[in-house]
Amino acid sequence: MADTVRKLQCASEAAKRREAYSVVPHKYKKVLIFRTIGLLSDFVIAQWRAISEKAIKKRGCFTAALSGGSTPVFLYKKLSRENALPWKKTHIFMADERFVPYEDDRNNFSMINRTLLGHLNIPKENIHPISTDENMPAASAVKYEKKLISFFRTSGNCLPQFDLILLGIGEDGHTASLFPQTESVKEVKRLAMAVSSKNKTKKDRITITLPLINNAANIMFLVTGEKKSKIVKEVIEKKNSLLPAARVKPENGRLFFLLDEDAGRLLKNN
Ligand code: 6PG
Repeated sequence: MADTVRKLQCASEAAKRREAYSVVPHKYKKVLIFRTIGLLSDFVIAQWRAISEKAIKKRGCFTAALSGGSTPVFLYKKLSRENALPWKKTHIFMADERFVPYEDDRNNFSMINRTLLGHLNIPKENIHPISTDENMPAASAVKYEKKLISFFRTSGNCLPQFDLILLGIGEDGHTASLFPQTESVKEVKRLAMAVSSKNKTKKDRITITLPLINNAANIMFLVTGEKKSKIVKEVIEKKNSLLPAARVKPENGRLFFLLDEDAGRLLKNN
């Protein structure tokens, strides 16, 4: 009888999961396609809960680096209502920042504060923005790198390891502020650096680098919308793509591509 009940429970769990997303089989990465941004956000929150509990049990704290842009806003607003998560032991860092004042609408930290952190009982000292008060982006990048080294107490070749990094993908294949054909994509030593935009209408930026990203325990790309479907196909399926997002290959961590049906519509086996 107990065995039948267990089998029924497993079947209903699998059915529930099937409703939430479909799996596109890949060797080193988990490509999941969700019917709605709500189901995608629920998955991230469930993973956030599991990863944070494990990290806190192991090291006493949970570290996450968050991206800006429009895609994660829905998730951040939903996450801001998860008061039972261990926010007092959670440290929030930035994956990148535009070199504009906090008050500027383009400032990523300002958006993350507005949609997430400003609603949470998270200690101020657990929030680690990239300062944009310096006189130039390079100075901000050096200051942020020093903060990373001091927080993670690493030096030399020992890289800090984030428990979770949330990333987006731009239509040109950029991620964080690692833009195609910029020095930032080739950086192998620094943890953070300034990126000057070729497009003068865009502001200079500060970004974490691939060595730091690829040392993370869990990396999640959140990508939605039909406009991203072509770049998503290249990043996921093209062998040896030089696109910055395609160069996110965690050394030992888990890599997730969390897509909606529009963004994943061109993928094989979908
Ligand atoms: C930023 C982000 C950037 C973003 C992509 C996708 O500073 O804008 O860090 O890397 O994730 O550009 O942006 P959307 O989510 O708006 O499509």
